[in-house]
Amino acid sequence: MIKLKYRLSGCLLYALRKLKLKKTFVSAVILAAGSGSRMQSDITKQWIMLDGKPVFVHSLLAFQNCGKVKEIILCVRREELALYDGVAERYGISKLKAVIAGGPTRSDSAFRGFKKISDKSTHVAVHDAARCLVTPEMITKVLRQALTFGAAVACCKSTDTVKICDSNGFVSSTPERSSVFLAQTPQIFETEIYRASAYTAIKESLVVTDDSGMAENAGFAVKAVDCGKENLKITEPVDLIFAEAILDMRKKQSENDKKSAQK
Ligand code: CTP
Ligand code: MG
Repeated sequence: MIKLKYRLSGCLLYALRKLKLKKTFVSAVILAAGSGSRMQSDITKQWIMLDGKPVFVHSLLAFQNCGKVKEIILCVRREELALYDGVAERYGISKLKAVIAGGPTRSDSAFRGFKKISDKSTHVAVHDAARCLVTPEMITKVLRQALTFGAAVACCKSTDTVKICDSNGFVSSTPERSSVFLAQTPQIFETEIYRASAYTAIKESLVVTDDSGMAENAGFAVKAVDCGKENLKITEPVDLIFAEAILDMRKKQSENDKKSAQK
């Protein structure tokens, strides 16, 4: 009897989640307005070619190929705006609704993007274009948790022990490793949670390096979703080597999958 009860409530939850998934309208805000100073390259890092495509295009394609995402707003450097002419047609990004100028900080760019999303939007997914190995499956995984809890952040469990240091570089504390998660993107929120968090941050002149930080500050619970180490961010030259190796590995994997499907 108890087992049956659990099974029924499980089915009900599943049905409710399906219903919710059906009526969601997810807007993606993709951030590519940074200067890439740590990359020290001649071109901004979003334009560096990886496997035949610029870094930001890999990110756009992951959101394009994620069924739940209905529109994409791309924030870019004002002086690079003209470079993006024709990008949607060239790479088949039919969901790209607008390419706009970002702001001086990441938070400014995200807020500018947020202001351009549709009135129909139920959820907003903010993503760093530089995190170009994101996959539609990772986006869906984070979205599922955002649908349940209102806010969710892609993360990677820390495999290193983390040290908190003071301004002189001396260790002041060591958090327990099992509780340390490294924040990634996408970070996905109910649109009204994002709005409330962003306006609270502006009112309090809050300085944060990610969107989850704004929601945490406003008192919202944010669910951490493990997306693994492959969801890395192109920040320094060495990251390009890791990214190329991962893309190569994925290619080989999909070739192997095809071969075994033919057998
Ligand atoms: N970003 C943005 N607007 C800014 C600053 C950053 O849209 N004013 C974007 C970047 O393009 C990147 C993401 O936010 O996709 C994460 O930022 P980061 O990795 O720090 O990129 P940059 O700021 O470009 O690099 P750096 O800090 O090395 O200068
Ligand atoms: Mg930066």
